[in-house]
Amino acid sequence: MTKHSAIIVILTIIIAVGIGVCFMLLRVNMNQEFEPDLNKEIINLPEPSTDSSISVEQALFLRRSIRDYKDEPLTLAEVSQLVWAAQGITDTQKGFRIAPSAGALYPLEVYIIAGNVSNLSPGVYKYNPLEHKLKQIAAGDKRTELCDAALSQNAVKEGAMAIVFTGVYERTTEKYGERGIRYVYMEAGHSAQNVYLQAVSLNLGTTVIGAFEDQKVKKILNIQDNEHPLYIMPIGRK
Ligand SMILES: Cc1cc2nc3c(=O)[nH]c(=O)nc-3n(C[C@H](O)[C@H](O)[C@H](O)COP(=O)(O)O)c2cc1C
Repeated sequence: MTKHSAIIVILTIIIAVGIGVCFMLLRVNMNQEFEPDLNKEIINLPEPSTDSSISVEQALFLRRSIRDYKDEPLTLAEVSQLVWAAQGITDTQKGFRIAPSAGALYPLEVYIIAGNVSNLSPGVYKYNPLEHKLKQIAAGDKRTELCDAALSQNAVKEGAMAIVFTGVYERTTEKYGERGIRYVYMEAGHSAQNVYLQAVSLNLGTTVIGAFEDQKVKKILNIQDNEHPLYIMPIGRK
C-alpha cells in the first residue's frame, strides 16, 4: 500500500467512526425526548365500576352541596370512580368520554389535590383519561394552599382531596370561535354534575367552588397561561 492510499484508509476510518459516534449521540438524545419522565410518579387506578345500588333518580334527589367532612381517608378506588365520573373514557373505540363535549374536542383537564387518600402520597396529580392513570405534578399536601386560593373557604382544606377542573379554550375556539369559550364552561358544568352524582353514590360529600383566585390555583397546578382553572370540588366523607 502506498503512503497516499494509507492516508485515505485512515481518513475513511476516522470519518466512519465520527459518523458512528454522531449517530449514537443523536439516538441517545432522541430516546431521551420520547422516554417517559421517570421522576414523575405514575399511578395506575383501579378499574371503575359501572354499577351501584343507587338509582340515578335517587342520586339526583339526594344531591346537595356538602362542605363539612370527616377527617377520614378516601380509598384509591373512590378516587378512580370520581375522576372517571369527571372525564373517564366510556367508548374506547371512538375515545368518547363520560360527559358531553362540543365537537368531542375535550377541552377539560382534571387534577387531584390529594391530602388524605390511602395508598396515594399527598400531592398534585393530573388525570390521564385515555390510560385511566394519574401523573404526579407536585409532591406534598397542597390543600391549605388551595384553600387560601379559594378565599379561605374551609371545605377546600377539610376535604380528603379536591378535584380541580381546568379548560384549554383553544381546543374548542379553533373550531367554534369565541362561542367555544362558553362551550368549555358548559362542559365543566356537565362534568361537575357527574362528580356530584358519583359522590352521592359513594356516600361522599362534595361541593362546587367557583370563587377562587385564578393565578394562585394556576401556580398550584403548575399550568401554562392558556389553561384556565374553572371549578374546585373538595371531596370527603360525610
Ligand atoms: C357556578 C357556581 C359557583 C359556586 N361557587 C361556590 C363557592 O365558591 N363556594 C361554595 O361553597 N359553594 C359554591 N357553589 C354552590 C352553591 O352555593 C350551591 O349549589 C347552592 O347553595 C345550592 O345548594 P345545593 O347545591 O345543595 O343544591 C357554587 C355553585 C355554582 C353553580
